[in-house]
Amino acid sequence: MRSQRLQRLKKVFVKSYGCQMNVYDSERMADALAVDGYEQTDSVENADLVVLNTCHIREKAAEKVYSELGRLRTLKQRRAEEGHETRVVVAGCVAQAEGEEILRRAQVVDVVVGPQAYHRLPAMVRAAQKGRVVDTDFPEDDKFAHLPKLERKRVRSRGVSAFLTIQEGCDKFCAFCVVPYTRGAEVSRPVAKVLDEARALADAGVREITLIGQNVNAYHGAGPDGREWGLGQLLHAVAEIEGVARIRYTTSHPNDMDDALIEAHRDLPQLMPYLHLPVQAGSDRILKAMNRKHTGDAYRRIIDKVRRVRPDIALSSDFIVGFPGESDADFDQTMRLVADIGFASAFSFKYSTRPGTPAADDTAQIAEAVKAERLARLQALLEEQRQAFNRGTVGKVVEVLLEKPGRHPGQLGGKSPYLQAVHLDGAGLAVGDIVPVLITAQSSNSLQGEALRGRAGETNAPGDTAAADVA
Ligand code: 5AD
Ligand code: SF4
Repeated sequence: MRSQRLQRLKKVFVKSYGCQMNVYDSERMADALAVDGYEQTDSVENADLVVLNTCHIREKAAEKVYSELGRLRTLKQRRAEEGHETRVVVAGCVAQAEGEEILRRAQVVDVVVGPQAYHRLPAMVRAAQKGRVVDTDFPEDDKFAHLPKLERKRVRSRGVSAFLTIQEGCDKFCAFCVVPYTRGAEVSRPVAKVLDEARALADAGVREITLIGQNVNAYHGAGPDGREWGLGQLLHAVAEIEGVARIRYTTSHPNDMDDALIEAHRDLPQLMPYLHLPVQAGSDRILKAMNRKHTGDAYRRIIDKVRRVRPDIALSSDFIVGFPGESDADFDQTMRLVADIGFASAFSFKYSTRPGTPAADDTAQIAEAVKAERLARLQALLEEQRQAFNRGTVGKVVEVLLEKPGRHPGQLGGKSPYLQAVHLDGAGLAVGDIVPVLITAQSSNSLQGEALRGRAGETNAPGDTAAADVA
């Protein structure tokens, strides 16, 4: 044991692609490897172990992995000439989808591990000394049970906002999406486990917890009372944990926005007024072809309900343009829906054919140029709405959670309740503080403001709506 401690700490470089679930998984892989003596590094050049936690959602995301592996081949050779070994791991959804194929395509890879098997990563890395290893099982055992407990120091070093996975996988089978295949069926973690992890985060100084899942509002975890709890009930329990000042959740499906969840937006001051609710398209014909199982009007009704309980809520969504068969008239319906609702932010993509998904075999694929033109029009409208939303905050007081040093010396940066980046003079303030801030100006990607420290009670008492006009 002692001699092991005296050995040079090995270094691991972890690169995360894609969604927030991957960010969480990357952290947990680093935690598991820390037990085996791996220290995290930001420099790939010095890494004894490189982990690429990959994304398979669109073709471009998947292709990025292979170009990165090309660069790693050169690096591995160079390090070998200098007498250092480098092991390369491909984790995440590309690993799950392509498995052995990755070993064939990329000689540089030592280990391929899927998103449900990464608790075994340290053992796989050890085994890789004898030969290449692949594990893309959906094992019976729960990976969370095998991961090390959250360590205070490690959590702290990652900041005051943290992700917490409460649910994985998806049973919805949208016709364009690989997630049900790469992440498997929907599984919810038991309530007690979620609350334990939330408490550990809060104990380590985390102020904001984002509950994450591929279909987070389909959450149905086993409760301590022997019943299944939905996300609404879970949010109430997380809100009771001391130190948790802010809660968010992502990503949701419209059909799982039940009343308990909507009412939580009315009843829980800790639940931030921000909702990411992907709609994908505005045309009922396309929504049906996408197997979304909801209409444009059903989506509008949900938004109306949410806005009734939380009028200031910031809305966000995902959109796909150029799904097979999408006509100009269909696309106009998407533009109409966006114009009607008004989003604070959004992600929009050209449809990307994913092998193995039902839409990939559709013969009515849309020309690339048409997709590009539609995407440009949609993005212009969404950008206009984003800027308008941000403009609406100027002159108001919002509570900002200070997360990190800002762009300029003396500045701090944080987030408004609406997930807007805010920069301000940090004199007398510290990371982790939540302060009322008068928003004074807007630039393209952030807001500037002045902290009204000590005036919190006058301007923005807890439980009030998050943004108040300056009287
Ligand atoms: N092509 C383009 N976008 C996709 N998404 C999922 N699959 C595809 C695909 N095949 C988008 C959806 C989803 C987001 C995470 O990625 O909008 O909500
Ligand atoms: Fe993919 Fe649809 Fe499931 Fe979202 S709900 S992960 S888009 S299949």
